[in-house]
Amino acid sequence: MISPNWESEPASPQDLSSVEACRLVVQRKIDGLKTPSERNRLGPFATPPTLAVEMARFVKTILDEDPSPIHFSDPAIGAGSFFSALMSVFPAERVATATGVEIEPAFAGSARELWGAFGLEVMEADFTRPGTAKRCSRVGIRKRNRLLRGGMRQ
Ligand SMILES: C[S@@+](CC[C@H](N)C(=O)[O-])C[C@H]1O[C@@H](n2cnc3c(N)ncnc32)[C@H](O)[C@@H]1O
Repeated sequence: MISPNWESEPASPQDLSSVEACRLVVQRKIDGLKTPSERNRLGPFATPPTLAVEMARFVKTILDEDPSPIHFSDPAIGAGSFFSALMSVFPAERVATATGVEIEPAFAGSARELWGAFGLEVMEADFTRPGTAKRCSRVGIRKRNRLLRGGMRQ
């Protein structure tokens, strides 16, 4: 559904926009499977893309002063609106690790499928449980090491 092998080269803006378009479709589909009261339980109300990008741009104004690599983590990743915004604002090589936690299997699977080739690791887990944050950072570091061993993106 998504892409060629992105891991060997940075995503082009065109690739990113087609995956982002898929994300919005997937988002609507998953949202439509739930009743309003089911949705109120876990709160899967996605951040609008323009707001997510605006926030990422704001972060960029701060991080432009600091050349260190970015370690991205979203404890409630949904379909990945913030990761998408990150990819649209920062060059891929600036992002050292990227992890997302998601409790809802449909979102976790979709985020993995949509963004895995861009380097996002998704854990299907409850971010409120003890140990999730630690497991999440180990997952990100393992992925980073795999990419480096393969001579892939920095
Ligand atoms: C408000 S949405 C935000 C999604 C995405 N970050 C965004 O901004 O569009 C919250 C997401 O968190 C997930 N979620 C809720 N409780 C969670 C938990 N305890 N652990 C992990 N994910 C959770 C929901 O399934 C939902 O996809």
